[in-house]
Amino acid sequence: MPTLTPLSPAFAARIEGIDAARASEADVAFIREAMKTHCVVVLPGQAIDGDEQADFAARFGELDSYEKMSGDYARGMRKDLLNVSNLGEDGKPVGSEDRRRLLDMGNRFWHTDASFKHVPAHLSMLYGITVTRDGGETQFADMRVAWDSLDDDRKELVEGLAAEHSSTTARRFLGFNDFREDNPAVTNRVTHDLVRVLPETGRKTLYLSSHADHIVGMPVPNGRLLLSELTEHATRPENVFTHVWSAGDLVIWDNRCTMHRSCRYRADRETRQLRRTSTVAPEFAARDPAGIEVPAWKIEAAA
Ligand SMILES: [Fe+2]
Repeated sequence: MPTLTPLSPAFAARIEGIDAARASEADVAFIREAMKTHCVVVLPGQAIDGDEQADFAARFGELDSYEKMSGDYARGMRKDLLNVSNLGEDGKPVGSEDRRRLLDMGNRFWHTDASFKHVPAHLSMLYGITVTRDGGETQFADMRVAWDSLDDDRKELVEGLAAEHSSTTARRFLGFNDFREDNPAVTNRVTHDLVRVLPETGRKTLYLSSHADHIVGMPVPNGRLLLSELTEHATRPENVFTHVWSAGDLVIWDNRCTMHRSCRYRADRETRQLRRTSTVAPEFAARDPAGIEVPAWKIEAAA
């Protein structure tokens, strides 16, 4: 029988006694149940290859497919696996000027995975292959508590608003401005509500991400300041859990009720190799921005 140990007062837990490569139906049900309460679970001591990780993830839902962002896919890697690594094709750490490494630094901002997609990520599963000795942690914020702890005025302001997300937003902030205008990453913009309801529990969450570019129907400066203020509120230290990686950890999080970010490490002398799979969240599909109307008082209040 698996055992569960809470890792922080409000959310995150460690589950021991489950082998992801040989999980029973009861094991999968145990994890599903734990996710409802804890939103982040850590399964330590796993030994899984890419196929085993994808097979395990697929038991929780339809797998997300990643873009052709690197040579990994040209070399035949499955589209439902994502390498999160600072190693180049030669197996050595890439240089500080490497474009992929610089683009990946967008992960250092608080975000939810694939919020720039029409159907964003539900569960992300990150497996530690080679982990850092110092730095490189992954931090999580509980977005249910982020909503619950807003004062009533803020709740009234945020309810009904939606943000437009793009995969280029965080990268533009990092200084990348050379995207071709016909690049699907530039043209694909989707609109997600700022406040969501989790179908399993009925609890509300704030749905924020560094991919959120602006608030629909609000002047861009007002909307960006509101997004910044809400992110600051959501990621106060008492609402954050920090996972320090050990090799063999499989960390599962629900992107609908958490935000996360990676922490810095010395990429010139450490190796960090993680492998991600995600399922998709059809109930969180983007909506048509045409029907969104923002009353003037909300614009004033957001200023
Ligand atoms: Fe992420």
